[in-house]
Amino acid sequence: MAESKAPVITVDGPGGSGKGTVTQMLARKLGWHLLDSGALYRLTALAAERKGVSLDDEPALVELAANLDVSFEPTPPGEPAKVLLGGVDVTADIRTETCGDNASKVAVMQPVRDALLQRQRDFRKPPGLVADGRDMGTVVFPDAPVKIFLTASAEERAQRRYSQLKDAGVDVNIDALLEEIRVRDERDMNRAAAPLKPADDAQVIDSTGLSIEEVLVRVMAAAGQA
Ligand code: C5P
Repeated sequence: MAESKAPVITVDGPGGSGKGTVTQMLARKLGWHLLDSGALYRLTALAAERKGVSLDDEPALVELAANLDVSFEPTPPGEPAKVLLGGVDVTADIRTETCGDNASKVAVMQPVRDALLQRQRDFRKPPGLVADGRDMGTVVFPDAPVKIFLTASAEERAQRRYSQLKDAGVDVNIDALLEEIRVRDERDMNRAAAPLKPADDAQVIDSTGLSIEEVLVRVMAAAGQA
């Protein structure tokens, strides 16, 4: 089947840069589809944990990634999309720090990435797609007409995550969070397979010190949708 050429806005960047919230707001504003590609890596890691598959067992992880029984269900504005794995609601389970860390270990494996590639491209449907990830502009949608790379200092990203977790009643240590962020950045940026980096034709936006509304204004302007 010929691939649909519906427009795509890619938003790549490290965790905590505001990507998740901004892409959700942008997709809703434009009435476009949303791809949260990180959720697919998190789901692969979660499926491995639930099935007792080791994070070193590449062939078994590829098998899991290729056969993920996933569905994303829309939720009211401001709430994260509901994520089901095998019909079970795992929305909260995939958002833990451990699941994010395991996702980044699974994501270094090129065959796992290959197993998830077509599933991601299938999200490209009219009227358009907002794609959130690390390699949306570099690998998955290299022909996207608009590419944005959203970043922020590690300290600010740790502070944002700390506030989120505190609001959710989770007791965390900010220094430990900062260290985790640094370790994950290091792994994501230095891996051989689709490392985290801006596409050559990406517009870089630094969200350090900006509110989410200010970030959205800049992203809309960069996307030519202001
Ligand atoms: O964005 P999120 O924190 O949910 O992503 C979890 C992990 O999945 C990232 O740290 C990264 O290693 C991996 N990932 C990736 N490519 C993507 C999206 C996420 O490698 N497009």
